Amino acid sequence: MSTLTPVSLEEMKFNPFELIGKQWMAVTTEKDGHANAMTASWGGLGVIWGQNTATIYVRQSRFTKEYVDATDSFSLAFFDESHRQDLGYLGKISGRDEDKLAKLGYHIDHFDGIPYIEEASMVLLCKKMSATPITPDQFIDPSIKEKWYADGDLHTMYIAQIVGVLER
Ligand SMILES: Cc1cc2nc3c(=O)[nH]c(=O)nc-3n(C[C@H](O)[C@H](O)[C@H](O)COP(=O)(O)O)c2cc1C
Repeated sequence: MSTLTPVSLEEMKFNPFELIGKQWMAVTTEKDGHANAMTASWGGLGVIWGQNTATIYVRQSRFTKEYVDATDSFSLAFFDESHRQDLGYLGKISGRDEDKLAKLGYHIDHFDGIPYIEEASMVLLCKKMSATPITPDQFIDPSIKEKWYADGDLHTMYIAQIVGVLER
C-alpha cells in the first residue's frame, strides 16, 4: 500500500529551478503493464490553456519516448538526496537494456490509472495535453543546434496537465 497521499498543488512550496534542475526528477511511464523511468533535469512548471502544467523534454532516442507516446499520462517523481545514486542509474541505463525499476527495488502504484514510484517523496501526476517535436528551424540562438544537437537527437516537448500531487 502506498505511503504517499494526495495534497493540493496550491499548498506546494518549492523552487522549480531547484526541484527540476538541481534535484532532478524521474519521468515515470507505463506501457502494456510494464513501467520504466528516466531521469530528467530539463523541464518546467507553469500555466497554459487554463491548466497548471508540467513540461518535459524527451530526446528521440529514449525508450521513455516510446512509452510517453503510447499512453496519455505519466508521472514525475522527486526524491530526497538519499536516492541521488538511483537517479544517476535511471539517467544512464536505458529501459531497453534493463528493467531499471525492478533493479532498484522500486514499486509502481497507480493513482487514477497513472503509474508512480512509491519510493518517491513527491509525485506530480500528469495528463498529456500536447507533444511538439523541437526542430532546428525554431532556434533563434544559432548556438543551440551545435551545442545540444550535434548528433541530431532532438527533443520532443510534452506539455501535460498536473491532475494531482502526492506527497510523503
Ligand atoms: C541528470 C540527468 C538529467 C537528464 N535529463 C534528461 C532530459 O531532460 N531529457 C532527456 O531526454 N534525457 C535526459 N537525461 C538522459 C536520460 O535520463 C538517459 O538517457 C536514460 O538512460 C534514458 O532512459 P530510457 O532509455 O529508459 O528512457 C538525463 C540524464 C541525467 C543523468
